[in-house]
Amino acid sequence: MKQSEEYGWKISNFIANQNYNFDRKKIIDECGDYNLDDALKVISGWENYTPTPLLNLKKLSNNLNLKNIFYKDESKRFHLKSFKALGGAYAVEKVTQGNKNIIVATATAGNHGRSVAWGSKKLGLKCKIFISEYVSEARADEMRKLGAEIIRVSGNYEKSLEECINQSKSNGWEIIQDVAWENYEIVPKLTMAGYSIMINEITSQTDEYITHVFLQAGVGGMASGAIAGIAKYFKRIPKIIIVEPENADCVLRSIEKGSLKKINIKKESIMGGMSCGEVSLVPWKILKNAVNFCSSVPDNYVARTLAMLKNKYFCNQNIIGGECATPGIISLISLSEDKKKREQLELNENSNVLVMGCEGDADELLYNKLLKKGNDELGNI
Ligand SMILES: Cc1ncc(COP(=O)(O)O)c(C=O)c1O
Repeated sequence: MKQSEEYGWKISNFIANQNYNFDRKKIIDECGDYNLDDALKVISGWENYTPTPLLNLKKLSNNLNLKNIFYKDESKRFHLKSFKALGGAYAVEKVTQGNKNIIVATATAGNHGRSVAWGSKKLGLKCKIFISEYVSEARADEMRKLGAEIIRVSGNYEKSLEECINQSKSNGWEIIQDVAWENYEIVPKLTMAGYSIMINEITSQTDEYITHVFLQAGVGGMASGAIAGIAKYFKRIPKIIIVEPENADCVLRSIEKGSLKKINIKKESIMGGMSCGEVSLVPWKILKNAVNFCSSVPDNYVARTLAMLKNKYFCNQNIIGGECATPGIISLISLSEDKKKREQLELNENSNVLVMGCEGDADELLYNKLLKKGNDELGNI
């Protein structure tokens, strides 16, 4: 029986990019070649740096009749449990350049703020973090533990960012944001350069050429940072498939339209880090031509996928993958078991697919709740 029939996986939306035109040089220039080199040099020199594991989901690739499915396990990224550790902390170091009097500020859904707080703590800097009403107290506490002051703002992520910008302007705080806007591009480029390290690591973790990459997107920073890494470090360019929550599919809608499109989020996704209504400016310059396909998934399958990662359904290892680590797998299973889409994507027994396990149990409370829900669902299936 097909996995998608057995467990109910189904993507919400799927489109091909009519403006696809992958230009290595342009992509690298957009992020900054110097930034990419520097991020690798600086971050790999941090204490306790080790590449995160590249796991092979053997059971799943056998089931889907694909050659390999690699899972980049970012739950092991330093002790911060997500790839975001690479971006914010690096940007704090570059922007403050040893100046101890700077006060750092940012807005976050959780993981980026944790990275900024960690980076500030390492350098002995004060740090102010703005969170929306949707960010859990568990996530807020993790940032407090790193010495940050948390400022909760009523409304959504955009509201917390607005407040961060306003207060930072009047107090002279240095904003370390992973989102770009008009005349605010340097810092987001630094965070993207930090994320590109994931791809650099993969080049020495497998000899196989990756043929397909599934990249989660919120505002698109992670996806475009990974794409910059692909442009710089991969010998062959894989097909790139974006995955978003169906309620926050701003990349998909923008690719469909051929220009930036803002989404009015009606219901926040359980994949909180990806519940974003607008693509960031610098990422968009990369994504608009570098992405082959976009897909979106509903929240319904997140819990069971998280439980399947934990319970060795996909390989002989239990994997701690949080809510944002699941959509790549959901999209891959659904697409590769749909005959027409499988052909369109050229997914077959020679395919080496990469999915990003973006985060672990960064919010332990939510993780345990979802794990229980997923286990209950699997018992019922
Ligand atoms: C944990 C987590 N946070 C946030 C994001 C979104 O990143 P970005 O906003 O850079 O697209 C992702 C993945 O895309 C994620 O896994």
